[in-house]
Amino acid sequence: MKTTNLSKYGPWALITGASSGIGRELARQVAEHGLHIVAVARRQSRLDELSSELKKQYQVKVRTVQADLREPDAIRTITTATEDLEIGLAILNAGAEMTGAFVQGDEQAHLQLAQLNAVAPMHLAHLYGRQMAGRGRGGIMFVSSLFAYQGVPYVAHYAATKAYLLSLGEALHVELKPFGVDVLVLSPGLTTTEMTANMPVDFSKLPMIPQMPEQVARVGLRALGKKATVVSGIMNKMMAWENRLLPRAAPVSLLGFLLGRALKDGARPVGRVKACHLTR
Ligand SMILES: NC(=O)c1ccc[n+]([C@@H]2O[C@H](COP(=O)([O-])OP(=O)(O)OC[C@H]3O[C@@H](n4cnc5c(N)ncnc54)[C@H](OP(=O)(O)O)[C@@H]3O)[C@@H](O)[C@H]2O)c1
Repeated sequence: MKTTNLSKYGPWALITGASSGIGRELARQVAEHGLHIVAVARRQSRLDELSSELKKQYQVKVRTVQADLREPDAIRTITTATEDLEIGLAILNAGAEMTGAFVQGDEQAHLQLAQLNAVAPMHLAHLYGRQMAGRGRGGIMFVSSLFAYQGVPYVAHYAATKAYLLSLGEALHVELKPFGVDVLVLSPGLTTTEMTANMPVDFSKLPMIPQMPEQVARVGLRALGKKATVVSGIMNKMMAWENRLLPRAAPVSLLGFLLGRALKDGARPVGRVKACHLTR
């Protein structure tokens, strides 16, 4: 597939989670097309390094926005910081995982995961998508996951947030097309990034071939404007596709069994769950 001419989405691209991994690669590859970059994440020093690199290498302008997307107020921080810019491309990539038994995870951490992985991208897509629709042009990319294609025991809530993005994005692809706005859901499989390095999972026990962030970013940018959804990697494509052929419960049980075996000690469900009060 030929690379999309990204200049039609300019002049500015907003990328959340640009401080590392897939987001940093997306920022590099978008800047290579001459778009100016708004880079969002929590780690300012990483954003500053990226900014220097992109300005030097691609002669683009870069604005950094330090924001914690687990906090609802972060959306206002981002929109205020970009008020004077024409954002033609919004890449909603920032996300985190939460591995282990659902009921043993911390309540606040679950709520923050939903805000970061699902609510924030929806909110930003609504705000910037409305501006793009008004202009009659633009692009939105949601970074979901192969885990969006089925329920995934022990990563249940993370997978559910990614399924939310998949459903939202594929519907918006149809809704926003008449307004000249291209919407894509990019679903990476296992990718070598800080996120997977820190996960309490022994990936050697899973039938997954890791990809590099460069590959994943390229797959996404090539599909933008051409497709509604794209899964990165042949093996991953097959896994997403076979899910549609099997009874829904089968791949869920299978991945539950495989992940259960691959969980490292700290993440294994332990003993009985202590009952707690539902109200405080
Ligand atoms: N790696 C994989 O195997 C894989 C597979 C499928 C999908 N994905 C998805 O790909 C996306 C990128 O992940 P990655 O693998 O590239 O991991 P990564 O290297 O850990 O990057 C995550 C990015 O999100 C940002 N981020 C995390 N929490 C944030 C917060 N509270 N507020 C603002 N920004 C935050 C991080 O920046 P700061 O820490 O500086 O805030 C970082 O830039 C995620 O949505 C992830 O779910 C990854």
